[in-house]
Order: sequence, then C-alpha cells, then structure tokens
Amino acid sequence: MEAFRIRGGNTISGEVQADGAKNAALPLLAATLLTGQPCTIGRVPDLADVRTMRSLLTALGTTVEANGATVALQTPNITSTEAPYDLVKTMRASILVLGPLLARTGEARVSLPGGCAIGARPISLHLEGLARMGAEIKIEHGYVVAKAKKLTGCRLYLDFPTVTGTMNLMMAATLADGVMIIENAACEPEVKDLADFLIRMGARIDGAGTDRLVIEGVPALSGAHHAMIPDRIEVGTLMLAAAITRGDVTVTGLHPAHLEALIQKLREAGATVDVTGDSIRTRASGKLHAVSIRTLPHPGFPTDLQAQFMALMTVTEGMGIVTETIFESRFTHVAEYARMGANIRLEGQNAIVTGMDGLSGAEVMATDLRASAGLVLAGLVADGETLVRRIYHLDRGYEKLEQKLGSLGADVARVTMAG
Ligand code: UD1
Repeated sequence: MEAFRIRGGNTISGEVQADGAKNAALPLLAATLLTGQPCTIGRVPDLADVRTMRSLLTALGTTVEANGATVALQTPNITSTEAPYDLVKTMRASILVLGPLLARTGEARVSLPGGCAIGARPISLHLEGLARMGAEIKIEHGYVVAKAKKLTGCRLYLDFPTVTGTMNLMMAATLADGVMIIENAACEPEVKDLADFLIRMGARIDGAGTDRLVIEGVPALSGAHHAMIPDRIEVGTLMLAAAITRGDVTVTGLHPAHLEALIQKLREAGATVDVTGDSIRTRASGKLHAVSIRTLPHPGFPTDLQAQFMALMTVTEGMGIVTETIFESRFTHVAEYARMGANIRLEGQNAIVTGMDGLSGAEVMATDLRASAGLVLAGLVADGETLVRRIYHLDRGYEKLEQKLGSLGADVARVTMAG
C-alpha cells in the first residue's frame, strides 16, 4: 500500500497550474450517455475516480479514448443499463449515470452506494425527483431499479440543494417531455459547468449557477466539445499549503470567483491573497490568527476544504470553531491531527481548535479524500517526519499532489509500505 513520507518544515514557494475539476469531470463524462453522437471533454484530470467513471461508461456501451487530457466518448447504443456494485462502492458519484440512463433508455439499474466515512449520504432526493418526473422506482437487492416510458418535467423543490442530485435531475430533464423547474437547486460551479456542456449539446437550460433551474426538454441531444472548469478544491488546498508553511505560492489557470469564501477566511487569518486575472498568489509570514468557519452549500465555505482549513487552524494563534453543516461525521481527521499534537475538542457538529506553536510528525491514517489532503498539509508544517498511510483516498481526487508540492519545495515522497 502506498503512503506519503513528508519531512516537514520547508517553506514552499513558486507557481503551479490548476488541474481540471474532479467534481465537474464525473458528471460531464456521465452526461455523454445522453447522446449517441461523439463528445470530447478537455482538461480531464488523471485521477482514480475519473478512471472508475470511464470503466463504468465502458461497461454501459461507451467507447472512450484519451489523448492527453482530452477524452473522446461516444455511446451509439447503451448496451447495458446496470451500474454494478463493484464500481459504485469505490465511487459514490457513479450514481450520476442514473438520470442519463433513465432519460435515454427508459430504464436503469444502479447499485445503491451505501454509507461512507463522512456520513450516511442518502440519495433519496435523486429518487424522489425522478419519481415526480414519472419514473417507477424500486429498491431491489441493493439496487435502485428505475423505469419510465417517458419522463415528464415538473416543478420540484429540493429539501436540500444536493449537488449530484441536482445534476442527475437536470440531466434527466434535458430529454423529458415539458418543462422542469428545480427550486433550491445546488449553485456549485460544477453544476453550472455541467449545464454549460448540456447547453452545447442542445439542451435548453436557464438559471444555471442559481438556485432555480428551468429545463425545457428536447427530443434529442447532439455531440459537443467542452473544456471543464479548474478544480477549486485542489486550488484551495494549494493556497492553504502556502499559508500553513508561511510560503508564497501562485496558482494559475483558475476562476477566483469560485474561491471567494476561502480567500476571505485566509485574509481574516492574516495571509495576503492577491487575485490577478486567472491566478491567485497566497503569502503568509509570522503568526496567523484563529478564525472560525462554517461549511455551507456554495457560495458558502466548501465542506471539501474543511479538513484542510482545520489543519491550518491547528497552528494559528488563538481559538477558532469549525462547524460542519453538510455531512454528519466529517471529522475523522480530528483524531489523526491529535496524534500530531493538535488541540481540538469535538462538540457535536463543532470542532473547537486551539492553535499550537507547532505540530509533531507522526504516522497517521488517511480516512477519506479531503481528510488525506488535510493530513498532508499538517505534515508539511510538522516537526520531523510524517507518514500518511492509505493515500489511495487522496489519489481519487488529486493528480500527483506530491509532485506539485515537490515542485514548490516541499519534501514529499510516495513510498510503498508493506501491509
Ligand atoms: C458532492 C461532491 C462532494 C461534496 C458534496 C457537498 C461530487 C461528485 N461530490 O457530493 O465532493 O463534498 O457535494 O458539497 O460532486 N442529502 C440527502 N439526500 C439526498 C442527497 C443528499 O439528505 O438525496 C444530504 C447528504 O446526506 C449531505 C448533503 O445532502 O448531508 C449534501 O450532499 P450532496 O450535495 O448530495 O453531496 P454529493 O452530491 O454526494
């Protein structure tokens, strides 16, 4: 099993380029199931989750060819409508094929993902929405079995602005009869990016990027090309790496508007963040102050940067509170930070973090994707050597993070461990 061995204490500096967004890549790839015509998607990151989605699409009848970061996909015919448990259990976002399969073929059999390290993560809102559109939905032997002769648009209020739920329903509505209105839709940039791609394919969608989506169904979609948005979570992680090491890092090729909440919180903590065009320079020196954050749907502070921001807070001056409102148990990193000497008290959905003068390197275990990134950040500033085990979680969502950090002067090596 692979691990990262990090020798902490280096101040990192330099310039790096942002990769394409994992959470945009997965729905964009799934959306190509909606047409028999060829599609190409540019700036696709080389990540374990993207490879899983490619395998899933291949199993459904898609031919997939990659040429560098551009991926060409075509599904002349859907040859299977089943997303099997073996693929879905490694990546919950496999559920994104449900809407497209149902819309194009009238049926889908998709394994239920089950719980994961950060919470129960139900998909009830996806299913209730599809049922409102006329689908007959059953749960059988651990699978969602959905059938619909024809989906029909309706007016739907989401109890929570679920990200992949909004995406699934939006994709299904592109080929439905009539008009679909989704109220309290997710406003995440990845939802807007998916809508932009669907519009290029001929879909009629208004309001993407807002909490009210209006989708007018069309009889068929065509092929299209789309280059996806940069990964705001990867960028945020690199900005936090600059701050935690008191370094000076410029990340280029990004959309600053996607990172407003983080930029503001870093400035509040005392870091200098300069935004110029499509790049952000983050600098810090001396003591940073504790600040509090509260995770919220976009444009609120992203839950996918909570663990990384908490790593920074473990070495700021004073006490701050991290409130996690999106996922019920997204604090598994707390016990690992404690092994490195952090002072964190958990009270329900709050983590009360009292900053220390430093952390001490230790052997720690990655528990989920973003928690792994937080542990890497903690390792960068810790005294001595940190070994972050189970790095396969990290590889699901970060492309060669050790090389990016290494190019900035960090001492991070990928090592193979026995057991
Ligand atoms: C997506 C992101 C993930 C991010 C999350 C929140 C992808 C591939 N993943 O996950 O990185 O952390 O958004 O920004 O884009 N909920 C329900 N019922 C449902 C669906 C969701 O109660 O049917 C709840 C969940 O339990 C959770 C909250 O809504 O508490 C947010 O989940 P959701 O927005 O659906 O997250 P994902 O789309 O799975």
